Amino acid sequence: MTAVEIRPGLHLYKTALDRAAQETLRENIREILREAPLFQPVMPRTGKAFSVRMSNCGPLGWVSDRAGYRYQPEHPVTAKPWPPIPETLLRLWRDLAGYPHDPDACLINYYDPAAKMGAHQDVDEQDFDAPILSVSLGCACRFRFGGETRGGSTQSLVLESGDVLIFGGPARKMFHGVDRILAKTSTLLDPPGRINLTLRRAR
Ligand code: SIN
Ligand code: FE2
Repeated sequence: MTAVEIRPGLHLYKTALDRAAQETLRENIREILREAPLFQPVMPRTGKAFSVRMSNCGPLGWVSDRAGYRYQPEHPVTAKPWPPIPETLLRLWRDLAGYPHDPDACLINYYDPAAKMGAHQDVDEQDFDAPILSVSLGCACRFRFGGETRGGSTQSLVLESGDVLIFGGPARKMFHGVDRILAKTSTLLDPPGRINLTLRRAR
C-alpha cells in the first residue's frame, strides 16, 4: 500500500480499504454497536454534550464524562466489557502501524451529518511510542491538523471512506479535529453519516 507523507510522522493511505473491505468493516461495527451501543459523551466539568456519539472495542475504551477523560474496560451505560477489535482492523494495524504490539483500544466515533469535533490532542494514552491509526468510513470530512500547541497554524485535508491516516513519531501529539462532514459523499452508511475508528495503545 502506498502512503503519502503529509509531514514527518503523518501518513495518509488513500483507499487502504476497498469497497468490499469497507462493507465488511461496516458489518463488524454494526455487530459491535449491538453489544456496545453508541453513548453520548459529555465534556468534563461543564457536562456539555459532544456532537459525536461514541462506543469502543478492545480491552479498553475511551470515555468522557463530568469526571474527566479516561480509558476503562467497560461500557459506561451497560457496564459490560467492550467487544473485541475486529480482525480487519488488527490486520491493518499489523501491516501499517510499524509497532510491535497490538492495539488495546479502538474508539468508534459516529458523526451524523451535522457533527464535528473540536481541536484536541490524543494524550490520555500511556504509550506515545505507538502511533494512532485512524480509519474513515462513510461520508467524507474536512480533517484539520496543526502542531503541538493550540492556536498555531493549521492545514486540512479531506478524509474519505476507506482512507487510513496514521500519526506517530513527531506528529503523535498534533492537535487535530473535524471541521465538518461533507454531505452526500458516500453511500456506505444508511442513514448517511461518518464513522471514524481510531486504534490506540492506551497502556
Ligand atoms: C478523533 O480524533 O477522535 C477523531 C478524528 C476523526 O474523526 O477523523
Ligand atoms: Fe483524536
